[in-house]
Amino acid sequence: MHLIAPSLLAADFGNLQRELAMINESNADWLHIDVMDGVFVPNISFGFPIMKPLKKYCTKPLDVHLMIVHPEKYVERFCDAGAWSVGFHLEAVEDPLPVLDLIKNKGVRTCLTINPDIAVERLFPYLDKVDMVLVMSVFAGFGGQAFIPDTLDKLRALRQEIDRRGLQTLIEVDGGVTVDNAATIYAAGADVLVAGSAVFHAKQPKEAIDQIKR
Ligand code: DX5
Ligand code: ZN
Repeated sequence: MHLIAPSLLAADFGNLQRELAMINESNADWLHIDVMDGVFVPNISFGFPIMKPLKKYCTKPLDVHLMIVHPEKYVERFCDAGAWSVGFHLEAVEDPLPVLDLIKNKGVRTCLTINPDIAVERLFPYLDKVDMVLVMSVFAGFGGQAFIPDTLDKLRALRQEIDRRGLQTLIEVDGGVTVDNAATIYAAGADVLVAGSAVFHAKQPKEAIDQIKR
């Protein structure tokens, strides 16, 4: 599958409605929402208040990526706020299973995420318990970083394991995705590419979305 989820983090917040209109008119599949708490990552982005205008003005599914400690405290509120998918970091919890259950009980899709310094095999026990895994191709916290090439090996390993077990789990990749490296990342096994700068900082964002998907 070749899906793309532009990351709102790189949008122009002074023109949010215009940015969302662009997303709505584009071939973007989802809108990726990066929530940062200043503790799990050394940066703070946005939280619940942004969900309301997004629900109102964005027609695409909202793919929420929580970069926060204690996700168990907040996942249900993001589900109630209209998230289509809620993901949190494996390394942010002792046991992801109860947190996944909180999301599932809300009827929302689940995603488990790992930063670049976490071995991909740590996701294997959960591949049949989540809708999607998100492999960070930069360290979570900031947009505009360069894609870490080692990520490609992780994607190949994940793809092989998912196919071997006959699972439908989606593989999402986040960080440093560009028009130039997108094809290589899909070829390594990714289903969904998150792209912030490459979309919102492009001269022609809708065309950039099409070029990444292609
Ligand atoms: C980083 C975020 C990413 C970020 C990607 O912590 O999770 O979603 O917005 O930005 P780019 O595409 O600019 O690397
Ligand atoms: Zn993200």
